[in-house]
Amino acid sequence: MSVNLSNVTRLVPSSVALLSVATKEKRDVMACGCMFVAEDQHFFIVSVAKHIFSHDLIEASGEFVLNIASEGQVGLAQKVGALHGQQIDKYQKLGIETEDRGKGKAPFIKSSFANIACKVVTSYPVGKYTVYIAETTDFAVDSTQKPLAWYGDRYFALKDEAR
Ligand SMILES: Cc1cc2nc3c(=O)[nH]c(=O)nc-3n(C[C@H](O)[C@H](O)[C@H](O)COP(=O)(O)O)c2cc1C
Repeated sequence: MSVNLSNVTRLVPSSVALLSVATKEKRDVMACGCMFVAEDQHFFIVSVAKHIFSHDLIEASGEFVLNIASEGQVGLAQKVGALHGQQIDKYQKLGIETEDRGKGKAPFIKSSFANIACKVVTSYPVGKYTVYIAETTDFAVDSTQKPLAWYGDRYFALKDEAR
């Protein structure tokens, strides 16, 4: 593996989340990595590019849902991570099945490993990104699904325990 300072982050395996976000007028979904603040805290960290549509909606609503992608959602993660939601509704275009949570609320995406609703508690600009720290307000888990990891531009299903 060829690594230099500009791509040193590739050394770290990442979670894969489908971040859903909505206002009363608009909704969107993007792919992102997310990290928890600490194992015994219900806070998460995401980093969102300032120029993308999801960023506008997070700024407007102060909320989002981290749909933790499952093994069957590789294609969906790639698609929502490549399309931009300003002009299109990705949910309609991609036929994404959701569990709606009320008008203006980001939906839970079905067939995800977990759905974690979050409320932004603080944010911080880092270059072209805004880093959000958000508190969990609600969650659901489907333990029949296996979560994905993203490493070296490839997706892996977390299945076997290493000993
Ligand atoms: C696996 C994966 C992880 C990604 N992680 C992030 C991320 O952490 N932050 C970010 O701003 N964009 C990330 N992206 C890119 C966004 O998902 C992408 O720019 C998306 O098209 C934005 O959509 P929007 O304009 O509708 O908000 C990732 C894409 C993929 C495929």
